[in-house]
Amino acid sequence: MEKLVNLCKRRGIVFPTSDIYGGLGSTFDYGPLGVELKRNVKEAWWREMVQYRSDVLGLDSAIFQHPRTWEASGHLKNFTDPLVDCKNCKQRFRADRIEGDKCPACGGELTPARNFNLMFKTFMGPVEDTAAVVYLRPETAQGIFSNFENVVDTQRVKLPFGVAQQGKSFRNEITTENFIFRTREFEQMEMEFFVRPDRAEEEKWYRYWVDFRFNWHVKFGIKREHLRAREHATDELSHYSSGTTDIEFLYPFGWGELEGVAKRGSYDLDQHAKFSGKDLTYFDEDTKTRFRPWVIEPALGVDRAMLAFMLDAYDEDVVDNEERIVLRLDPRLAPIKVAVYPLLRKAGQPEKAIAVRDALKRHFTVAYDQAGSIGRRYRRQDEVGTPYGVTIDHQTMEDDTVTVRDRDSMAQDRVPIARLVEVISDRIGWTRPAAAEPV
Ligand code: GAP
Repeated sequence: MEKLVNLCKRRGIVFPTSDIYGGLGSTFDYGPLGVELKRNVKEAWWREMVQYRSDVLGLDSAIFQHPRTWEASGHLKNFTDPLVDCKNCKQRFRADRIEGDKCPACGGELTPARNFNLMFKTFMGPVEDTAAVVYLRPETAQGIFSNFENVVDTQRVKLPFGVAQQGKSFRNEITTENFIFRTREFEQMEMEFFVRPDRAEEEKWYRYWVDFRFNWHVKFGIKREHLRAREHATDELSHYSSGTTDIEFLYPFGWGELEGVAKRGSYDLDQHAKFSGKDLTYFDEDTKTRFRPWVIEPALGVDRAMLAFMLDAYDEDVVDNEERIVLRLDPRLAPIKVAVYPLLRKAGQPEKAIAVRDALKRHFTVAYDQAGSIGRRYRRQDEVGTPYGVTIDHQTMEDDTVTVRDRDSMAQDRVPIARLVEVISDRIGWTRPAAAEPV
């Protein structure tokens, strides 16, 4: 993990927030390369979860929701962690994360556990009184439930169907840990999949989404042996869930949650109907009945997904007797897709290389590098995961061909400049079809 954290800082992937002020406990910013990686992870999810399918629609709801939302959803009452304080050193811990009844830092006596609500509170408007209290959303899901009627009324949807969204969520976690694994501000990608209220239907789609999500991680580069699906025990379930499977990843600190797939039943729609006085039912044309559908929810953290992709991509090997760090990211996720290099800084090669860079830039994220030996330039790109390197050499000046180097095999082949966009697009592979939907 430490090696990855160093690489992320050194190469502009992840910076500590407010670095110039000494940081702000476990809060992180994404640098020029990190923001590209993050966009690609979100793109990989959006394509496979929304755009390539015909049964899922997108949404983008506000971070602030009406405060009644959180009463209805149960977050105000139940979204808590047990907190203990050390009477001696004053540190705070999550009671369920420590062993024994003494302070893990100094061995001091601990206070009895009390529930601590994880929602961040603030005020909307200029008056800071109880009537103005609003919360930063702790999950994106509630914006989907509160828009259920809007989507059904405007989109001619038919069960089963899903509504997906990506966006920031906030939790005032008692303890943060492990780089970008657990932070107080993070981004989620969630989808609420509405099905008929029927146990067999619910089970079918629950299994389907656990498999689909598991395979998505593998498809974009997580090693199968580093993933497992773990069903929650009854005492672990969230207040809204009647069954949850965590897709866990083998982090350097052990197995931990990467994504959760939960059965939420009609809990949320029932609660919002009760608190808002709205009907929130769905009219089923086939049976001419009205009911509130049940929900299966796959929920993934963008930052946590990025961490897992980077951890599994991180590799060190030896090339020409020199150690190299290489991030073997799936080309679709790589922040920079192509690096363009003139072999020499003369003979018209830099000018030609800049023209190639500018042509490629309309299609891909591109880096240009003419500093140092070609071997060093390759290494610089290998460690940030750039999958392809295009080199302009003396032959380019004669026949308009370039070499294309592959990050992983290091093989090089000659390609006419006129075909570069097509060749690189094919290799990146965004156009590969998604898994078919069941009918
Ligand atoms: N709507 C359901 C829900 O929010 P969750 O298991 O609490 O479920 C879903 O969160 C995912 O969001 C987690 O699997 C994880 O990837 C991510 N996540 C949750 N809390 C996080 C935190 N404090 N920091 C980073 N990611 C977090």
